[in-house]
Amino acid sequence: MSDETAKLTYKGRDYELPVREGNIGPSVIDIGSLYKETGAFTYDPGFTSTASCDSEITFIDGDEGILLHRGYPIEQLAEQGDFLEVCYLLLYGELPTKAQKQDFDYRVTRHTMVHEQMTRFFTGFRRDAHPMAVMCGTVGALSAFYHDSTDISDPHQRMVASMRMIAKMPTIAAMAYKYHIGQPFVYPQNDLDYASNFLRMCFAVPCEEYEVNPVLARAMDRIFILHADHEQNASTSTVRLAGSSGANPFACIAAGIACLWGPAHGGANEAALNMLAEIGSVERIPEYIARAKDKNDPFRLMGFGHRVYKNYDPRAKIMQKTTHEVLGELGIQDDPMLEVAMELEKIALNDEYFIEKKLYPNIDFYSGITLRALGFPTTMFTVLFAVARTVGWIAQWKEMIEDPSQRIGRPRQLYTGSPKRDYVPIEKR
Ligand code: SDX
Repeated sequence: MSDETAKLTYKGRDYELPVREGNIGPSVIDIGSLYKETGAFTYDPGFTSTASCDSEITFIDGDEGILLHRGYPIEQLAEQGDFLEVCYLLLYGELPTKAQKQDFDYRVTRHTMVHEQMTRFFTGFRRDAHPMAVMCGTVGALSAFYHDSTDISDPHQRMVASMRMIAKMPTIAAMAYKYHIGQPFVYPQNDLDYASNFLRMCFAVPCEEYEVNPVLARAMDRIFILHADHEQNASTSTVRLAGSSGANPFACIAAGIACLWGPAHGGANEAALNMLAEIGSVERIPEYIARAKDKNDPFRLMGFGHRVYKNYDPRAKIMQKTTHEVLGELGIQDDPMLEVAMELEKIALNDEYFIEKKLYPNIDFYSGITLRALGFPTTMFTVLFAVARTVGWIAQWKEMIEDPSQRIGRPRQLYTGSPKRDYVPIEKR
């Protein structure tokens, strides 16, 4: 708690509200007693000025374009670490020792298979079902298959559920993809690392050996790292709110997946690539920039803008570098999408509208080009985001559950509806 307080005068009375300081970043004004003392609520529908919790996991400085996971800069983690190491860091707060990393990798690897009956679960979906719809359904159903790890009051069951989620999401995502394209499911292979295993489950076919390309596997692993966690974003807040009622972790993650799907959030990578395809050529960019600036046109530049980043999203820079690495490895010289993306970025960053509103490319702007080059259809892009973000959701859910002061989240409202009135029988209406 800080010695500083915030003073409020309301209806002729003065109030002093406590201020709390974080280790870095903005302080908070604790309004927990405001309603009791003043009879008024605060009002912040988009939560633009609201901190919903304490957290030690991820710090973002939107003005400086800084992203830290447990204090470590995303640039260093993406360059020097691997995804399971970042998973360990997010879950337990410290980078693992060699022995801890080996044990964690071993435990995740041996949870990658799903209950065999889940394969029948997929057949209930139409083949043309969007893979995100399949993910929402199958992940929500996990609590039906793994009921032995749904007691959130038991630390052991919480740990087992966490490992199961992190380990099985790639398998379920790959199954959703294989079902979508009518190919047989591919079982995980324990001698492969996380990203290589995922690529093989997605792209191997029974008719021939599948050789994982180490450059592409490294790129996939880095893409997972970049998407792992991001403070109290919409889907993470959804997971926390669902978890605050005591719902089981599988149900909470399914809620997070549903929220992530929206084009304003994790669905933006699919929407951004579709936008680049619609623009089609550099010549048509000015037309779309004009539409993005037109208040009467709902069109927005997908992959641009962010609630927190009012500078370049540090993940987007790493993503752009990874895009060039992947295209280079695949010998894709002049990808027209990349050409449009880079020219669009250049024009937008020099346009006074985007400068004034501090709109920069976010992680979703380049990820789609990379994922398409890796062989994924656009409908799988948000699925891949969900695979990576599962560890962030789990880490944030775990932090909330283990917080002794945790209570059910239950916001209030400003009521603008009808005052009390009496029922009118239908014959008198
Ligand atoms: C992710 O929160 C997270 O951390 C999310 C995420 C994560 O890792 O979890 O980082 C992942 O979701 C990234 C964002 C992906 N979404 C998109 O790329 C979709 C396009 N971007 C936007 O829809 C928008 O920028 C948001 C949703 C990302 C942010 O919306 P805000 O913070 O509510 O901002 P806003 O809509 O109030 O926009 C502020 C102004 C508005 O103009 P005015 O009303 O002030 O005149 O900027 C304009 C907007 O019209 N604006 C855009 C724009 N984004 C905002 N104009 C054109 N194109 C855009 N993309």
